[in-house]
Amino acid sequence: MVIRTRRLRGCETLRRMTRETRISPDSLIYPLFVREGKKIEEDIPSLPGQIRYSPDAVAKGVEAALSAGVRSFLLFGVPETKDESGFSAYDENGVVQQALRNVRTAFGKDAYLVTDVCLCQYMSHGHCGLIENEKVVNDSTLPLMAKTALSHVRAGSDMVAPSGMMDGTVAALRAALDAEGFSDIPIMSYAAKYASAFYGPFRDAAGSSPAFGDRKTYQMDCHNSEEALKRTQIDIAEGADIVIAKPALPYLDIISKLRGEVNVPVAAYSVSGEYAMIKAAAASGFIDEYNVMCESTASIYRAGAHILITYFAKELTAAIKKGDIG
Ligand code: PBG
Repeated sequence: MVIRTRRLRGCETLRRMTRETRISPDSLIYPLFVREGKKIEEDIPSLPGQIRYSPDAVAKGVEAALSAGVRSFLLFGVPETKDESGFSAYDENGVVQQALRNVRTAFGKDAYLVTDVCLCQYMSHGHCGLIENEKVVNDSTLPLMAKTALSHVRAGSDMVAPSGMMDGTVAALRAALDAEGFSDIPIMSYAAKYASAFYGPFRDAAGSSPAFGDRKTYQMDCHNSEEALKRTQIDIAEGADIVIAKPALPYLDIISKLRGEVNVPVAAYSVSGEYAMIKAAAASGFIDEYNVMCESTASIYRAGAHILITYFAKELTAAIKKGDIG
C-alpha cells in the first residue's frame, strides 16, 4: 500500500487550509529609529530600505506603515548628546519622548507604541549600564532604567521593552510604573538576549557600539540555552508580560524552548543583521529576497513565536495579504 502524503500538496486551497502555522499582521512590530534634529528623513546605510527620522518627521514613517497595515511600532532613540549617566534617555524632551508625543497627536491610539528602554545609545561609553572601573554596575543602573521607562510612558508609550539585560530590571520598572499609577502598562522584556554579532547594523544605525570591551558580561553566551530559560523565568516572576528571544533565526531552538516552557506570549526579534544579510545577498543576486523573507518568517512562527519584531513588517503585511505566507 502507498501511503499518500502528496494528497494535501495538490491543491492550493487545501495547502492553505492545512497550514500548521498562521501568521497575522496583528502580530508584527516594526522598529523605527528617531534621531535628533529637525525635518530629517535619512536612509540608514547598514539597513537598506530603513529610514531614520527626526521627532518632527517620524509621523511620516508611522503613516507609511499604518497604511501598509502595520499597527505596532518599537521606537529607538539616537540622541545627539551622550554622557556617563545617559541623561538623554530619561530627559522629558529626549528624542523618543518627543516622537511619542508627536505620533500620539497625529494618530491617537491607531498606532501602538512600544519603546525600547536601554541606556547604551545615550551613554558616552556605549554600554547598557553605568560603568565603574571599566565594569558595568548592575544595581545602580536600575533607577535610571526606571526613570527612562517612566518618561516614555508619561510621553505616551503603550508598552515598555527593557533591553539592557541588567538583573532586576523588570522588577524595578514594574515597581516604578505601579507607584506612578501606570499599573496597566505592560512590560515586554528582552529576556533571552544573546551577545550577538548580528546587532552590527543596528549599532551603526543607532551609534551604540561599546567604546571598549563587549556586552558579554550582561548579554547571553550563544552556547547556552538553559540560561535563556532561567533568565526568562526570572523576568516573568518579576512581572514581564511578554518575553523576547533575540536574535531570531540563529536561535529558533530558544524560541521553541520558551514557547514550550513559559506561559506568557513569546516575541522573536529578527534583528538588524538578519535583515541586512537578506538584503545584501539579494542585492548580489544570490537569493530571492521576497521568498527568503517569507520562508524565514514562517520558520520563526513555526518555532513558536507569537509576535515578531521585524524590519520587514511592511513587506510581510503585504505578503500575508497576498496569501504567500500566513
Ligand atoms: C539596545 C538594543 C540593541 C538592539 C536592540 N536593542 C543593540 C545591542 O544590544 O547592542 C539590537 C537590535 C537589532 O540588531 O536589530 N541594547
